[in-house]
Amino acid sequence: MVGGAIKRTLEQKGYVNLLLKTSSELDLRNQQAVYAFFEQEKPDVVIDAAARVGGILANNDYPYPFLMENMQMQNNLIDASLKRDVRKFIFLGSSCIYPKHAPQPLKEEYLLTDGLEPTNEWYAIAKIAGVKACEAIRKQFGKDYVSLMPTNLYGTHDNFDLHTSHVLPAMIRKFHEAKENGDLPVTLWGSGTPMREFLFVDDLAQAVVFALENTLPEHLYNVGTGEDLTIKELAETIQSAVGHKGEIVWDSNKPDGTPRKLMDISKMHALGWKHSVELKEGIEKTYAWFLDNLQSYKEVKL
Ligand SMILES: NC(=O)c1ccc[n+]([C@@H]2O[C@H](COP(=O)([O-])OP(=O)(O)OC[C@H]3O[C@@H](n4cnc5c(N)ncnc54)[C@H](OP(=O)(O)O)[C@@H]3O)[C@@H](O)[C@H]2O)c1
Repeated sequence: MVGGAIKRTLEQKGYVNLLLKTSSELDLRNQQAVYAFFEQEKPDVVIDAAARVGGILANNDYPYPFLMENMQMQNNLIDASLKRDVRKFIFLGSSCIYPKHAPQPLKEEYLLTDGLEPTNEWYAIAKIAGVKACEAIRKQFGKDYVSLMPTNLYGTHDNFDLHTSHVLPAMIRKFHEAKENGDLPVTLWGSGTPMREFLFVDDLAQAVVFALENTLPEHLYNVGTGEDLTIKELAETIQSAVGHKGEIVWDSNKPDGTPRKLMDISKMHALGWKHSVELKEGIEKTYAWFLDNLQSYKEVKL
């Protein structure tokens, strides 16, 4: 989802010479293959949008690949970049790097000040290691290696598998299927009270290109909208966009995750970047794309 959005944005802005590989063409867990690729292609800039990504369920059930594969991929890319003298490296992390009970909104300086949310600590620890590797390279070698921490993302080409997806695409699929089956009730996880922030993936792509085209003075920046809503409000917004008329049932036996996760995005705003797609518009665009791709939307299996 993210890599594709960055590619579209770069192409729209006239960038050429993009080196793009699928995981089957270049498995980033394979150190030798990554070093050979860098040796041959000598990239000038690297944007790392590769990761094993998933929602609460996948993170909780598959701790080892979420920890190890993410570290393998990013370590190989970051180290090969340093060794091959890559001028600029943009590492993408996630808001889950911040402590579970950190004050809100989450400032970059809260990193490593308290314990993580246990359901996704494996993924978070891998991402923190990536942030620290880029910071260390910046500190020791003075290179322009920067980490962007996006809030929850959504948009076209998202993963709509009900076992591994994030909350927003899962809701789109559930409401759509319930509507198609005569407005059946939709059961959603948790109490509906946690608060979350969502950013349309094309806005993140714009932030990545902003980071590419400017030298950012610090090593770590949050990227989000700075606005959040309850999961219940999110469900109602999606229900209305989809046109589902049935009941919403909240299964409070399922975990809620972190009570609130709102990013402080004042650093990116001060540099001149701001999102442009509001949530309702982004959900409508995503649902329109979902309807156009009913036969082929992505379902990531673990
Ligand atoms: N989605 C979100 O809500 C969210 C929020 C915050 C941050 N992020 C960050 O954004 C980045 C991208 O996430 P996404 O949502 O775009 O995930 P995604 O749609 O699942 O894409 C993951 C990408 O990683 C590649 N990949 C996975 N394993 C690989 C391997 N072994 N070797 C090479 N490539 C591999 C996949 O390539 P193939 O398709 O070719 O297999 C795919 O292009 C991640 O760093 C994630 O932490 C995402």
